[in-house]
Amino acid sequence: MTHDLESVALTLVADGKGILAADETVHTLTQRFDTLGIQSTEKSRRTYREMLFTAGVAEFISGAIMQDETIRQTSSDGAPLVQVLSKQGILPGVKVDAGAKALASAPGETVTEGLDGLRDRLSEYRDMGARFAKWRAVIHVTDSLPSRACIAANTHALARYAALCQEQNLVPIVEPEVLMDGSHSIERCEEVTGAVLHAVFSALRDQRVWLERMLLKPNMVIAGKDWPHPASVQEVATATLRCLRRAVPAAVPGIVFLSGGQDDRTATVHLDAINRLPGTKPWKISFSYGRALQDHALETWHGRDENLAAARQALYERARCNSAASLGRYTDEMENTPASVASAPHRREWRDD
Ligand code: 13P
Repeated sequence: MTHDLESVALTLVADGKGILAADETVHTLTQRFDTLGIQSTEKSRRTYREMLFTAGVAEFISGAIMQDETIRQTSSDGAPLVQVLSKQGILPGVKVDAGAKALASAPGETVTEGLDGLRDRLSEYRDMGARFAKWRAVIHVTDSLPSRACIAANTHALARYAALCQEQNLVPIVEPEVLMDGSHSIERCEEVTGAVLHAVFSALRDQRVWLERMLLKPNMVIAGKDWPHPASVQEVATATLRCLRRAVPAAVPGIVFLSGGQDDRTATVHLDAINRLPGTKPWKISFSYGRALQDHALETWHGRDENLAAARQALYERARCNSAASLGRYTDEMENTPASVASAPHRREWRDD
């Protein structure tokens, strides 16, 4: 079992592979559907997730993160979605936190909840076929936030979750997200991200979490959305790698970034630039993107069956570009020369036309 968790963690960050985060809650996915005028029902959410999971992306995607509704769903021909993934060699994962809730006595800050009953839920998900899990802590940045109370509460919960996952034979993805919302500089983001990561690894040590059997899912070091002087790609890459080198132990097998509101191409370009930087990188550096992988596919689908094949193609192209970026081999031309479906014969079974 010990060996199993280490090999699952390594499989998730195999060369040229990253993770598809498709674990939006019903509430969040409904909001995304609303902006496009797509009706959110149990069936339409299933159709959407089934489209993502049948896009033939196994050469680029090692694992997919679901949420509670999705992991219990079956595909249109009756196979559990977990099986749809594992048959292609994509490891099924599940979001297990209960969301960020207001932190008492800390205006503007949240703590992620969900520890109560977590052991039993993890055991159930493991029996359903999940091999890894995810928990997201959310850190808001201003001149005076985050507070020490917020960092302490969130990192303690992340570490308790990670220890429980390993006890229940699931690889924990530890996600402390320092938000891009706000008008802070890239320097402020680096300062906060560094402080949060140091606290995360201190808490993981306190709770006896095996670093070899987990993955870290951090934000990149990037200026706030409303900061007037956006940093260059090179500045983002350099600050991100410097921050991670200072805070993330070499025993961690992989770092898989969240996209956090960057547009899809920017998230790809940044990942590529980080991987191209010279110097020590003791961990694999890849992606676990939600919006940056899905946005184009969701818009393309638009809730219509006749668009399913094109939506799969859109996801395939984004996954292909990010796979290249995880190896530091992405080029702009890849955006203009999509892989032809005909050249990927293993994908034919997923085409509608
Ligand atoms: P984004 O890539 O859209 O930030 O989502 C990643 C994720 O899993 C957030 O928890």
